Amino acid sequence: MDNSAPADLAPAETATLARAVSRAPSVHNSQPWRLCVRGSDVDLVERTEIVLPRHDPEGRDRLLSCGAALANLQLAAQALRRDITTSFPSHGDVAATVHTRPGAAPARADLVRYRAIGRRRSYRREFASEPVDDVAQLLDTVEEPSVHAFAPASVGVLAEMLGFATRVFRSDAAYQRELETWTAHTFGRYALGAVDGVPEASFGDEPLPAAGLVRRTTPVPDDVRLAERLAAETLVVFCTDDDTRRAHLDAGVALQRMWLEATARGLAGSVLTQPLHLTGFREHLAERLGLPGLPQAIFRCGHPVSAAPPSPRLPLGELLAHDLPGRPE
Ligand SMILES: Cc1cc2nc3c(=O)[nH]c(=O)nc-3n(C[C@H](O)[C@H](O)[C@H](O)COP(=O)(O)O)c2cc1C
Repeated sequence: MDNSAPADLAPAETATLARAVSRAPSVHNSQPWRLCVRGSDVDLVERTEIVLPRHDPEGRDRLLSCGAALANLQLAAQALRRDITTSFPSHGDVAATVHTRPGAAPARADLVRYRAIGRRRSYRREFASEPVDDVAQLLDTVEEPSVHAFAPASVGVLAEMLGFATRVFRSDAAYQRELETWTAHTFGRYALGAVDGVPEASFGDEPLPAAGLVRRTTPVPDDVRLAERLAAETLVVFCTDDDTRRAHLDAGVALQRMWLEATARGLAGSVLTQPLHLTGFREHLAERLGLPGLPQAIFRCGHPVSAAPPSPRLPLGELLAHDLPGRPE
């Protein structure tokens, strides 16, 4: 006999949620999350054992990634005709809990974004020259009061600072070792079994900003050339009022929602956080650009000229956490 309450999530619904979460972007494609379904509630659990001491020494990007996964989880629950509320425990490994109950069909904009989840990929290439229409509408996707999306009017300062960061990362041997560890060889003789990491084919060999992740061989354009490249792209800096765990999650949610909206509009994009982890970089950037808060991520988007390669994912079964120690009943 089935004793579950009618509001409980059925296995097929859980699979839909897990698929959506699995497709979220994450730092180095590390997928630092698990799901724990309890009746009609879903915990998004942060996998704090995933550490990137060189790229993400403070674990900020791990929480931003969980935020991106949370955006997908919320959209998927709504697509399943569930009304949702989200709570954010202040301690422990549960980043957020989405409480669901049977409800109405989602708003059209949310359904459109949900459907874009499977098509979104990191596009680390130059864009077509066609400009992005209605950037203001993209900026409007940010709903979180503590998150501010800022489109810089001029890119000279950004070019100068990104150029500097690129040169630092290129010659940082420990950083490069860590990046190599997180490079997924998705074809060729090392291809077997890659379930995480950034695929080799996704790096490309273009200079910044398209390079996204700087490797030893990444060409560094001079500041003038870099400024020209940046000026040809639509750039959005995601800032938050402070550096709390909640701020990082909110920034991740907002970033992913904008990325999905862009995808739904036929645009492509990628995220840069790498330079923001250099000591003092964010504070300096905030001051020089007059940013409305602390920068957490830079989103670049435009019209794609080709398809971006897919990246691997952990099997869905590994996403669904069971028997986590210390979980409340
Ligand atoms: C918080 C966060 C930080 C990221 N930082 C970078 C970055 O600095 N450079 C970059 O090229 N991609 C960055 N990415 C993109 C990830 O590498 C990408 O999402 C992951 O490899 C999965 O690939 P996909 O986006 O194509 O699904 C970041 C993504 C997130 C969520």
